[in-house]
Amino acid sequence: MTTRREILVGSLVLGGAAVAQPAGKGGGIAAPARGDAFLGKHTPKPLPFDPKKLTGISEKLIVSHHDKNYAGAVKNLNQVEEALAQITPDTPGFTVSGLEAAKLKFTNSMILHEMYFQNLGGDGHGVGSATEKALVQAYGSHARWEKLFLALGNSLGGGSGWAILDWDFHARGARIYWAGDHTTALAFGAPLLVMDMYEHAYAMDYGASAKDYIDAFFKNINWPEVDRRLAAWGNVPGQ
Ligand SMILES: [Fe+2]
Repeated sequence: MTTRREILVGSLVLGGAAVAQPAGKGGGIAAPARGDAFLGKHTPKPLPFDPKKLTGISEKLIVSHHDKNYAGAVKNLNQVEEALAQITPDTPGFTVSGLEAAKLKFTNSMILHEMYFQNLGGDGHGVGSATEKALVQAYGSHARWEKLFLALGNSLGGGSGWAILDWDFHARGARIYWAGDHTTALAFGAPLLVMDMYEHAYAMDYGASAKDYIDAFFKNINWPEVDRRLAAWGNVPGQ
């Protein structure tokens, strides 16, 4: 028996006329089914640590960051996916490009925030040997890498963007990259360490002092999570 949901998921718009069809039936270029890309069912992940226990980053700030900024991006992404499901051959190009730009922005915001929260909640110590080796290989020393990562973070103070240590699949190594407005990210990389430099990440605690926030961020890095990511990405074949 076809459920109402199946009819909705499988509904098509052809030549302006809505045609109901059970999900999974039909298919092909002439009759594209609506799949997972249009579900709009993303749900925010809970904070992976006790928000009371960060060093130098208040519970009020991190909960606001999670519940308002991150969860807001997830909610917006769901709405964009639902809007994309309505696209037809008659949809204006500026609507399509606008929705796709929004999809990229909110998807990246969701992913980067989840990785940011996951690489917090530690004590800033205990970098693993493989991660240490990758930093030394790329930057000569851990201290040199840290200086450059801090420099990027500080350069974004008062503005916005992300400071990211990526696993660069092209270079086959760890590399620092800037990512602005959630959308300018390394094409063939996977984040190892993510630092949010939007003002909402620190203004509530530190006002305009991005430097103090960055110091606090380093005290809360969850290095075992960085090690876990390196073990995963570092084994993926590059080009
Ligand atoms: Fe943020």
